[in-house]
Amino acid sequence: MCGIVAYVGNRRAFPILIKGLQRLEYRGYDSAGVGLINNNKIITYKQAGKVSDLLEHVGDRDISGSIGIAHTRWATHGPPNQINSHPHSSSDGRFSLIHNGIIENYASLKKVLENKGHHFKSDTDSEVLMHLIEDVYNNSLNGVEDKEDNRLFKAIRIALNEIIGAYAIIVIEEGNKDEFYAARKGSPLVIGVGNNEYFVASDASPIIEYTNKVIYLKDGEVASLNKNKDVVIKTIDNKKQSPYIEELEQSLESIEKGGFDHFMLKEIFEQPKSIVDTMRGRINPKTNEIILGGIKDHESRILAADRIIIIACGTSWHAALIGEYLIEDLARINVEVEYASEFRYKNPILTNNDIVIAISQSGETADTLAALEIAKESGALTLGICNVAGSSITRETSGGTYTHAGPEIGVASTKAFTAQVTVLTLFALRFSQLRKTVERENYNFLIKELTAVPGKIEKLLALNDNIEKIAKVFKDASNFLYLGRGFNFPVALEGALKLKEISYIHAEGYPAAEMKHGPIALIDDEMPIVVIATRKENYEKIVSNIQEVKARGGKLIAIVTEGDTEVKEIADYCIEIPKCFREIAPLLTIIPLQLLSYHIALMRGCNVDQPRNLAKSVTVE
Ligand code: AGP
Ligand code: GLU
Repeated sequence: MCGIVAYVGNRRAFPILIKGLQRLEYRGYDSAGVGLINNNKIITYKQAGKVSDLLEHVGDRDISGSIGIAHTRWATHGPPNQINSHPHSSSDGRFSLIHNGIIENYASLKKVLENKGHHFKSDTDSEVLMHLIEDVYNNSLNGVEDKEDNRLFKAIRIALNEIIGAYAIIVIEEGNKDEFYAARKGSPLVIGVGNNEYFVASDASPIIEYTNKVIYLKDGEVASLNKNKDVVIKTIDNKKQSPYIEELEQSLESIEKGGFDHFMLKEIFEQPKSIVDTMRGRINPKTNEIILGGIKDHESRILAADRIIIIACGTSWHAALIGEYLIEDLARINVEVEYASEFRYKNPILTNNDIVIAISQSGETADTLAALEIAKESGALTLGICNVAGSSITRETSGGTYTHAGPEIGVASTKAFTAQVTVLTLFALRFSQLRKTVERENYNFLIKELTAVPGKIEKLLALNDNIEKIAKVFKDASNFLYLGRGFNFPVALEGALKLKEISYIHAEGYPAAEMKHGPIALIDDEMPIVVIATRKENYEKIVSNIQEVKARGGKLIAIVTEGDTEVKEIADYCIEIPKCFREIAPLLTIIPLQLLSYHIALMRGCNVDQPRNLAKSVTVE
């Protein structure tokens, strides 16, 4: 959601900024803009639409300059048009700002500023922040604090003290081609440190090509980045901070398409590897003991806890539901799964005997972060299951486990989901041994099953062409129903979400037995129904559910275990998954559903990697 890129140094800024915006395109946006300083003047280009539209708009106009800011906007205040696009400049054009996030108190600030004579061009909350900084700069400063300070640096800090909401901002100043300022609270921002140059971006992907030295700015910090000097970081209340420079481990290849037509397809096919990467070093090959380094120190507290609450959104919430089945079944610990967005406002009952686990691919989801804050305040132990190293959730939690799926660029989550389920399986198995709830022999079988998953996914991926054929039959449907039971019920939800988010076909997931309580009314001979009917998860029960669908003329696509004969006789299309334990099934049954959605979306001419209205990282509530 929204991308920020900025550069100051001795290279030409424009190509770096544009490439950076393109690397962030996956996050979702509706307009784009660039601000450069050239001959001491700020030049701004902005346009509604894609980065390619912005490039067309720039045409052969002047793009020189070695300092610049760039932004892809995901509109929250005001429609996605040229005027509302970022950068936004101050009244006198002296400063320019890009902003990701929401200024919640923008309306009252705007009124105060209007009374002082400010005029606004756009509908955005971001322009209000720009004017506020300008106003402080012009009217409310009495000198700077120390020799590293300057007027604009100070004005930004003072202005940000007035802000309620979330922001990641960069501000440039006319006449200053050596320096800009970056600040954040609640929205992500990473600083890349080069030789006499700085890069700033919403995540590391625009930066890794140039440097692997990064600083993650913390909430409430403002950085002054002068290409000729060291970074200076202060909090908004003027406390000097020591910058902590970390080394990035990501590689450039890991964020490129590698021969696939789409990131989503690449990421679906990467799952055998991403699951191996997620398990790597966590299962002792000799003893089968599981070690999760990031939660080891908290194990005794988890063992003594009353319950585990898992908070997440979207696909991560579906992984959490599978986690509930796994942890309750294997480790016999009480688990509750909550939508982060509901949890944060429901006045939850929490004690320091609770364990709260946040699951998030991006580690930046605003609702999940806010729910975590509430959990922390109540004294609960907070843990994270995240994919993006160094992301806000990883820094806000006391411990946790990385999913190591590698960068996920496609907006529709695929490999991050299976990596999350893998971590949850490891977690459940680890506690099944600490709590002695699963016998050693069974545990060893389960470990064997889990480590066999990557090979079984390879087999499933080989069915891609068959799944494409099934997709062809159903590509014009307007509704889909997904049914599953037990461990496969959350997979039905996830299958439906995958289809609706990228193909725009209405789809719903249900526990198969719930069908009778309402959705069955939808079934006619036009309606495709995807049923996950693997052995032995309530197999007989689900066969009865399938009969009920068939009796009403529904078209059945069944996911079955290889060798199945019963469902095959009834279903219109069958996709076979290799035999496995029911606890492991979700890691396999989801694969054909991801491929089915991919092909249907493609056949309908949809933008698979960047579906409309969606953002990869939802940094606003
Ligand atoms: C997944 O396909 C979605 N685009 C979305 O539901 C996503 O899972 C959700 O926004 C949560 O994101 P997170 O895992 O980064 O927190
Ligand atoms: N709230 C700002 C706007 O609507 C920024 C949105 C974003 O993060 O892209 O312009």
